[in-house]
Amino acid sequence: MKPLLIVANIPSENTRLLRDAAQSGAESTTCPTVVREPLAANPEDVINCAGIIIGTTENFGYMSGLIKDFFERIYYPCLEHTQALPMALYIKAGNDGEGTRISVERIVKGLQWRQVQQPLLLVGDYQPGFSEKCYELGECMAEGIKLGVF
Ligand SMILES: Cc1cc2nc3c(=O)[nH]c(=O)nc-3n(C[C@H](O)[C@H](O)[C@H](O)COP(=O)(O)O)c2cc1C
Repeated sequence: MKPLLIVANIPSENTRLLRDAAQSGAESTTCPTVVREPLAANPEDVINCAGIIIGTTENFGYMSGLIKDFFERIYYPCLEHTQALPMALYIKAGNDGEGTRISVERIVKGLQWRQVQQPLLLVGDYQPGFSEKCYELGECMAEGIKLGVF
């Protein structure tokens, strides 16, 4: 079975908790899971996955620079090979996440990936509930891949 791929920037302890929670949720299923920090993720990781979770902070009203760099490196190598890839997005923002959501969704539309979960906007000071939502997101994506429902 191809794995679920999780690519998230983790500039802070809170964002690491979110990424780890998404990974734990995915690993609570029997779906294989691959976690990559953005700089370590390459086109082969994306071409060889069954679905992807992107996690990003909102920086200057946009996705993080590391996630933008990831998209810039994988976009053309993946374009012809990953159409209809199931994807989900979570955003950790200080006070808004809309600019990030719009910017990621524009690229995802270009890639012709399918956003199979509502984008998860985690806004404001970290709360344990944010990690619970990321856990559920990881679990849902992994279960969906395993069952072939996407
Ligand atoms: C350079 C920089 C720019 C940021 N710009 C925004 C922004 O435009 N909108 C926003 O809601 N939060 C912004 N933030 C806040 C980050 O989204 C926040 O630090 C991140 O979600 C990590 O959250 P944490 O402090 O709970 O670890 C910015 C943070 C940094 C470091």
